[in-house]
Amino acid sequence: MTVPNITLNDGKTIPQLGFGVFQIEPENTKEATLTALEVGYRHIDTAEMYGNEKEVGEAIEASGIPREEIFVTSKLNNGFHDPALAAENGKKSADLLGGYTDLFLIHWPLPTVSDFVPTWKAMEDLYHAGTARSIGVSNFQAHHLNRLAAETTITPAVNQIEVHPYLVQDELRAYGTEHGIATEAWSPIAQGLVLDDETITRIAGATGKTPAQVVLRWHIQRGDIVFPKSVTRSRVEENFAIFDFELSDDDMTAITSLDKGHRTGPDPDTFDYVPA
Ligand SMILES: NC(=O)c1ccc[n+]([C@@H]2O[C@H](COP(=O)([O-])OP(=O)(O)OC[C@H]3O[C@@H](n4cnc5c(N)ncnc54)[C@H](OP(=O)(O)O)[C@@H]3O)[C@@H](O)[C@H]2O)c1
Repeated sequence: MTVPNITLNDGKTIPQLGFGVFQIEPENTKEATLTALEVGYRHIDTAEMYGNEKEVGEAIEASGIPREEIFVTSKLNNGFHDPALAAENGKKSADLLGGYTDLFLIHWPLPTVSDFVPTWKAMEDLYHAGTARSIGVSNFQAHHLNRLAAETTITPAVNQIEVHPYLVQDELRAYGTEHGIATEAWSPIAQGLVLDDETITRIAGATGKTPAQVVLRWHIQRGDIVFPKSVTRSRVEENFAIFDFELSDDDMTAITSLDKGHRTGPDPDTFDYVPA
């Protein structure tokens, strides 16, 4: 099964399907990541906030797979927006993940508690130093991206945002397409919330696939990058087996029509959590 690559605006390529490790306890992360790598995933999405970068790094090393064959994303935690802290923590994440990150993101814009523009300039420095091979943002709204465009040099390679059938985010995704910013869809199955939806179970029945496979396939056909999380081997395998079928235009439209603007996570315009 071949996972397609997406070419980013800096010329680097990223596998369109990866494995997310949010809410995997550090003591389970090495095993979960090794399972994903055994199944065939070559893209891991972690973050300083998840507390398991070290274990992701250990799994990559233990796998015997050359580091350059695995695409690893991490994210700058909310307490580190100060440019000096951003520089230090970008380097820390890189050190834990085999010497560099393939993609390093500002995790949240935190517009009510800090100014992300100087932070982005520190991210640009990490990019120029090769500490982060690509840089991007997460949870940025169009007006945050407009500020980066006006006041900084590098266009983010990606914007990682909450996207699933109950929050289809077509406006922000279109902004990304227009400006060369790839969309990464976090919580792609809404942490399981959408899997009992009647439309999705109907399409699953008709295609002979599971609800999770249908939803992940919908993301893939929309061109977004996804990294479902699971600590269950059979689900890790199931989520990887989505390249041998295609959803019809009618099915795609029916799933997109489920949008109800429902966020499972915080609103980026008001979220202000900074760890102590
Ligand atoms: N940038 C951000 O702010 C942000 C925020 C949230 C998430 N993320 C990223 O996005 C990744 C994915 O999001 P997520 O972890 O929140 O949620 P998700 O991938 O949408 O859903 C994960 C949940 O669904 C279950 N699951 C997985 N595959 C399944 C399947 N085939 N059938 C039924 N249930 C299944 C998992 O259970 P088990 O594990 O028990 O199998 C887990 O409870 C994260 O790991 C992280 O990398 C980023």
